[in-house]
Amino acid sequence: MMRQAGRYLPEYRATRAEAGGFLDLCYSPAFATEVTLQPIRRFGFDAAILFSDILVVPHALGQHVWFAEGEGPRLDPIDLDRLDALDPTRLLERLAPVLDAVASIRAALPAETTLLGFCGAPWTLATYIIAGRGTPDQGPARKAALTHPAAMDRLMDVLVEASVRYLVAQLQAGADAVQIFDTWAGALDDAGFERYAVEPVARIVAGVRALVPGARIIGFPKGASARLPDYVRRTKVTAVGLDWQTPAAFARDHVQPLVPVQGNMDPLRLVVGGEAVDRGVDQVLAALGGGPLIFNLGHGITPDATPEAVARMVARVRAGGAG
Ligand code: CP3
Repeated sequence: MMRQAGRYLPEYRATRAEAGGFLDLCYSPAFATEVTLQPIRRFGFDAAILFSDILVVPHALGQHVWFAEGEGPRLDPIDLDRLDALDPTRLLERLAPVLDAVASIRAALPAETTLLGFCGAPWTLATYIIAGRGTPDQGPARKAALTHPAAMDRLMDVLVEASVRYLVAQLQAGADAVQIFDTWAGALDDAGFERYAVEPVARIVAGVRALVPGARIIGFPKGASARLPDYVRRTKVTAVGLDWQTPAAFARDHVQPLVPVQGNMDPLRLVVGGEAVDRGVDQVLAALGGGPLIFNLGHGITPDATPEAVARMVARVRAGGAG
């Protein structure tokens, strides 16, 4: 599940309190290993996802990043005419604790459990780098792209290069596959989607595979909807994540023939629980279970979801749904 190690688990909240802040958790290999393993112990998922955050990349590029309690991520916004503030020279040195966590998690996981690494896609990272925080419509980054297209291209170049190095290092440290999260891809128009969601991710995929032949890479362009087939063909991702708004018949007919899909139950069903979980599982399996499917949520689990609802979902998926 996306965000499977998170605040809906009491054991996560306890470890986070022990670690201090959220970034302390991310940069401590021992704590990051512990919270990555917690949902595997509890639910026996087929895959673990490295516990970290997409914003460790801007942080490792030298941007000031912090997580204010109850406020989400904050960064000192960077002007596009001051891009030299981002310094790639010490990237992997600064991310060394995360790479140590990958190796330690791989060593601790059962052999049959997949370990996923990840990074944020350049466009989604840019929305936080430019605005300094989450925004409702990614207005600051969209406006920056329209007013300073050359500088925006330079920012994409820096983030593509950093992402290739970071993902290759994760794969070399023991990740079995990696996922590229483009949470805000859906905020772009056609031209923007091509330039900022498709092209940079295609370059990352090619760059990673040049160094790790056959690397398995899952794309998650949230909100891509009817653009999914084009995204898959152009980026050459191995599999693609679907958000819960994606029309199931469209995904079955136009995406699944190209690549395996991952998704896409509405995470709020895990807040409501009971029948809402059963119907959600059944819908996904009925629509997409006839082709290659990695059952997952359509976005991250929320803090108010319950562990009981997650257990119910896992049991129903493993039983094959309503049948
Ligand atoms: O999926 C996993 O279990 C791995 C860990 C993971 C986290 N963040 C942990 C986290 C992953 C893959 C991410 C990715 C991430 N981070 C994305 C892309 C995927 C998505 O969910 O859209 C984005 C946009 C971010 C940036 C970010 N980090 C936000 C917007 C927030 C606040 C969210 C919230 O619910 O408050 C974070 C913090 C964060 N990242 C938490 C976790 C478990 C909550 C931190 C806490 O309070 O303990």
